[in-house]
Amino acid sequence: MTDDGLYIQMFSIHGLIRSRDIEMGRDADTGGQVKYVIELAETLGRQEGVAQVDLFTRQIEDKRVAKIYGRETERITTHESSTGNVRIVRVKCGGLKYHRKELLWPFLDEYVDRVLTFTKKEGRIPDLVHGHYADGGYVAMSLSPLFGVPFAFTGHSMGRVKKQKLLGDGMSEEEVNAQYNIDHRISVEEGVIENASLIVTSTSQEIAKQYGLYENKDKPTFQVIPPSVDLDRFYPYYDDRLRGGSKRDEKVVQAEAFILEELNRFFTNPEKPVVLTLCRPDKRKNISGLIKAYGEDKDLQTMANLAVFAGIRKDISQMGENEKEVLTDMLLLMDKYDLYGNMAIPKSHNPTGDVPALYRTTAATRGVFVNSALTEPFGLTLLEAAGCGLPIVATNDGGPIDIVANCDNGILVDATNEEEIARALRKILSDREAWKKYSTNGIIGVHKHYTWDAHCKSYLEAVDTMFSRTSKTGPSARESEESVGERLNKLDKLLITDIDNTLTGDDEAMAELFAILEEHKETIGFCLATGRTVESTMDLIAERQMPHPDILISSVGTEIHYSRTLIEDKGWASHISQSWDREKTAELLSQLEFLELQEHENQRTFKVSFYMKPHPDHIPWIYELMEKNRLRCNVVYSHQSYLDVLPFRASKGGAVKYLSNKWRFPADKIMVFGDSGNDEEMMRGQYKGVVVGNYSPEMEKLKGRKDVYFSPENHSAGILDGLRHFGFLDAKKEPAPEKKKDEKASGVNRE
Ligand code: GLC
Ligand code: MG
Repeated sequence: MTDDGLYIQMFSIHGLIRSRDIEMGRDADTGGQVKYVIELAETLGRQEGVAQVDLFTRQIEDKRVAKIYGRETERITTHESSTGNVRIVRVKCGGLKYHRKELLWPFLDEYVDRVLTFTKKEGRIPDLVHGHYADGGYVAMSLSPLFGVPFAFTGHSMGRVKKQKLLGDGMSEEEVNAQYNIDHRISVEEGVIENASLIVTSTSQEIAKQYGLYENKDKPTFQVIPPSVDLDRFYPYYDDRLRGGSKRDEKVVQAEAFILEELNRFFTNPEKPVVLTLCRPDKRKNISGLIKAYGEDKDLQTMANLAVFAGIRKDISQMGENEKEVLTDMLLLMDKYDLYGNMAIPKSHNPTGDVPALYRTTAATRGVFVNSALTEPFGLTLLEAAGCGLPIVATNDGGPIDIVANCDNGILVDATNEEEIARALRKILSDREAWKKYSTNGIIGVHKHYTWDAHCKSYLEAVDTMFSRTSKTGPSARESEESVGERLNKLDKLLITDIDNTLTGDDEAMAELFAILEEHKETIGFCLATGRTVESTMDLIAERQMPHPDILISSVGTEIHYSRTLIEDKGWASHISQSWDREKTAELLSQLEFLELQEHENQRTFKVSFYMKPHPDHIPWIYELMEKNRLRCNVVYSHQSYLDVLPFRASKGGAVKYLSNKWRFPADKIMVFGDSGNDEEMMRGQYKGVVVGNYSPEMEKLKGRKDVYFSPENHSAGILDGLRHFGFLDAKKEPAPEKKKDEKASGVNRE
């Protein structure tokens, strides 16, 4: 963390995110989470101790969506006191077309890559990465070791819960996976739960009932921090009245008038208090339980009217099975208990304008809001009602427990017990003091516990504790141990060398090279690019006491790892996996008599290796055979005896190019060194290349290339000679001209 405060990167990949005119409910992916992350980011940016917040999402350019979703960055300046330190950052993956979230999985490693590039370009490493939903969690989890920072996670909804529900609705396991990729999501969630330093939930029930379904449920540190209610819209029922006629917003007046008109179509005695419920027509919401409670209780019917707002409906017979059943049931119960004149079941309302008006109108009648769901994960409507000063009766299963504990604004009931519901309602309706207390407590409680400001304060406290707990990765620890991201961001140049016969072969020169690397370690990164496996390279490093490379390109460019801890570059793996069919490739080539399979340990996921005697026609034959079988590959021949068959995108050269793009090292800041065929691709890049004197014949064809220098010296002596030849160790040219002279004079290996 720098003096000016925390830099937080948040990831909410799917859906459509912009700072203004959020398109809530445009599709399944643009719902509550979008609003949540925007409001959270915006408020976080205004907190003391926070320097910058970037909310990363997917960049989309698609005729079907607004242009703004294609813009790389957008500042969130919706609050009057925002200082412009909060941005939406849009990063591409899997092309630019809009895709539903279930289809994004294969592109998330690409996403991680582009975030790294963006971060390097901006020049500041975050102190914390926070993923939202499983896809954002995956991205944060992948970035965390690269940046050397902890990662936090908010699930929003969990795959196991969804899977259970869909199976319960009668879908088959295969259908659920085909449509929702649910098992993949669940396995990602398991990984995220296992590794996250902090998991934020909205309720305590979420921990037990949702995360509780996961194998790793006992591993994380959870923090319950409820989201906010939009208190600008859900203000107390008396506000308008006190403000007086002239200042009242015309739209609000209209909405209230509409609600009254709507209710009065149903009620014989409209002056009575209203018992209100508002929810989707879903069986689990248990609307029938409430109607029964009201229908069975004559006293209650005398005391109050009942209003059930169960979503918008046109023609019940045309609706889905669940809804149809719930709504039909509702009408039948109304008829059974003969609730005509006492019960309102309006067909429609406008969710943005009318809902606050509905709560306020109900509060003004001294009514009560009911949530009689069998289980309620969070209970946003209860909080909105509370904000308007409407007391509540709510199910004692789920989020309402937290709400009533925080606000003391109503009564919890066993929603399966109709009598208990009726009793609670009668209590509040008949006891003026109780009504007043619950109404006031609700208004005060939501302002105290359910604002984004309160959320952010709790969040930052939790983050603080997390930093001290995870001292290995917290910001203070980073001062002593640099993360991969920090190191690669800081470096100016990369020295990339092959190992066998290039680096090795002349111990004295190699020691001299290592001394030079040590001297320049603040500016020059050390990268090995070898045909060996990671394991065999690590053995050699230990045995020869070589410095550990910043980057290790192994198995002929098919694998990339970082730092001592060997963090895998999954972006590279996913990039080269395209069109690669290892099994078919190995099977096909095993039929060729002139190929002899190498030892088992040399065979890797992206590398099938053989021995082959030189023959001018053999390699073209291999390509031909592969093509005939609709397989793509890259064939690399080294030392006149090793033949590697790799994915078409893979090679040491390809890996170098990928690293250069990903970590933004311009070609002239990279030098490559090699001696044999598998180094050839690297020499064909824009970088300065050096072929050491003891090279294999297959390198001859590079002679005459502009940026390739054939050193007369062998092994590491050739590397040293090459460094001098290109003046690679010279200090930066940028500083003031008069300084340049001194630097030259200090003679950093200049000829
Ligand atoms: C290393 C590897 C081998 C590969 C050769 C050439 O010796 O162990 O599998 O074929 O390099 O790339
Ligand atoms: Mg070699």
